[in-house]
Amino acid sequence: MYGKLNWCISGAAALAIAFGGCAVPSSAQSIEEKVQACAGCHGEDGKPVDKTIPAIWGQQLGYIYLQLRDFKRGDRKNDIMQPIASSMEREDMLAIAEYFSKKPWPDLGQPRAPREIADQALRANGSVGCTGCHLDRFQGDGTVPRLAGMSREYLTKTIDDFRSRARGNNPGMSDLMLATAPEDLAALEEYLSGL
Ligand code: HEC
Ligand code: HEC
Repeated sequence: MYGKLNWCISGAAALAIAFGGCAVPSSAQSIEEKVQACAGCHGEDGKPVDKTIPAIWGQQLGYIYLQLRDFKRGDRKNDIMQPIASSMEREDMLAIAEYFSKKPWPDLGQPRAPREIADQALRANGSVGCTGCHLDRFQGDGTVPRLAGMSREYLTKTIDDFRSRARGNNPGMSDLMLATAPEDLAALEEYLSGL
């Protein structure tokens, strides 16, 4: 039963201000409460608890939002994330995406790729043009994800899922991954994880 004014002047004011104003929460639950469940897998400190779970701290806002939307719609199929996203409204998804995008990207401590692997990855990037979309140093922007420093196991899994179209929410990425040689993709996965 918080009106906008009540929310602003209540004990939660400090929290509301910390998150950029006096937005009325879409339910009685605060954003901090809503993201609590995510930490169990995506990590208390941004380091996922398993290598096949992607880092979402510091990921691009638009990209996080689109994935939650796609999980909810079933365009991106995943037995774990679909039920989690299914109860979210658009405002929740946007607020959650904003919350995680502002966190620092976690250092997963993965080794740098050896010289010859890095060279192969950079040659592949030169012909496919990954950085044309994923941008300088694979940092991403908007709805294009950051890839630099992502877990190697997750990169491998999701690229395989694009290739088999098990991940069907972006057919263009599937086409591109199918058009790229598996050895080049393996080199890119090792290179990207070590950035
Ligand atoms: C029980 C474990 C678990 C929980 C809890 C969980 N996730 Fe996930 N999440 C996963 C897994 C596993 C994947 C990878 C799915 C795949 O391989 O397609 C994932 C993928 C994602 C992605 C896609 C990231 C990318 O790089 O494509 C986003 C965004 C995401 N989760 C957000 C959340 C949010 C927000 C919450 C809390 C509301 C949450 N997750 C809770 C396990 C979990
Ligand atoms: C034409 C633009 C474009 C090019 C070129 C491109 N990507 Fe992407 N990539 C995207 C977009 C957009 C997404 C997000 C798809 C979605 O919404 O699920 C994406 C998603 C990804 C993901 C999933 C990240 C995650 O967190 O799940 C990986 C991995 C990836 N790209 C790797 C590559 C690699 C490697 C190359 C070069 C061989 C490449 N991409 C080239 C646009 C591009």
